[in-house]
Amino acid sequence: MFRRLLIRSIACVSGSLLVLPEAWAGSTRVEFNRDIRPILSDKCFACHGFDAKTRKAKLRLDTAEGAYALRDGAQAIKPGVLDRSEVWHRITSTDPEVVMPPPKRDKNLSEAEKDLLRRWIEQGAEYQPHWAFTLPKKIKPDAVAGEKNPIDHYILSRLNKEGMALSPEVDRPTLIRRVTLDLTGRDHHPHGFTMWMAGGGMKPGLTYGATDEFGYHAVENKVHVHDLHATILHQLGIDHKRLTFRSQGRDFRLTDVHGRVVKDLLA
Ligand code: HEC
Repeated sequence: MFRRLLIRSIACVSGSLLVLPEAWAGSTRVEFNRDIRPILSDKCFACHGFDAKTRKAKLRLDTAEGAYALRDGAQAIKPGVLDRSEVWHRITSTDPEVVMPPPKRDKNLSEAEKDLLRRWIEQGAEYQPHWAFTLPKKIKPDAVAGEKNPIDHYILSRLNKEGMALSPEVDRPTLIRRVTLDLTGRDHHPHGFTMWMAGGGMKPGLTYGATDEFGYHAVENKVHVHDLHATILHQLGIDHKRLTFRSQGRDFRLTDVHGRVVKDLLA
């Protein structure tokens, strides 16, 4: 049961999150850690950050004190007042001598980034401590219909707010393929295989073993690949335990030190 929940949740997450960042642009409150720090960090901190050695114009934008400080009567950021915030004039200037970041850096701000900075300043330019040093807060997402597990709850509540909906659930084989590709980079389970065998002394018309609902894990009559090899060798008249060779200081065999002949498979 747990596995089913887990798998469905992950599939939902990877399906939905991709569309969210753009949807953020219009509505919710701008948050320093989520929306602003990444921009400043990428485009400004190289010259206005923590490192005093590379700091330009003695201006720090990584702390509220630095950003709000009065400098010759002006402030880089005046919370809530766009017009009086030097940062806003600098990032929207069309003068290459004035605009920030300096054009030669080749790290221009996109319109969406400027818009986020504008809204952040208008909303009060609130700084937050680095998220790694703040206590995680429990948030209670709005009640929403269609929830199948607790993770859906968060995703659906947000999608609702953005006027979006989940895509319809895909069929099981597609779902399991996506999950395994995402998690392991393989399109199959490394411990699961299905094989069709005919002749060679194998029992005809027999289906052996069973998997869980996803075809992901063997749950009944597990046959390890060593067991399969032992069984095939047995049918070739070879005792897999006696077919040993020495390598790297120990005995190996085709079935390593494992494997059992699966008698149920034999005619
Ligand atoms: C490559 C280094 C560099 C980067 C990156 C950079 N700046 Fe600057 N910044 C400077 C220099 C040099 C000055 C001083 C010269 C000037 O005023 O143009 C300056 C000045 C400023 C000033 C004016 C300070 C004052 O006292 O008048 C503001 C505001 C500013 N930068 C904001 C920003 C913002 C916001 C970003 C990111 C979007 C940014 N800068 C990225 C180099 C940089």
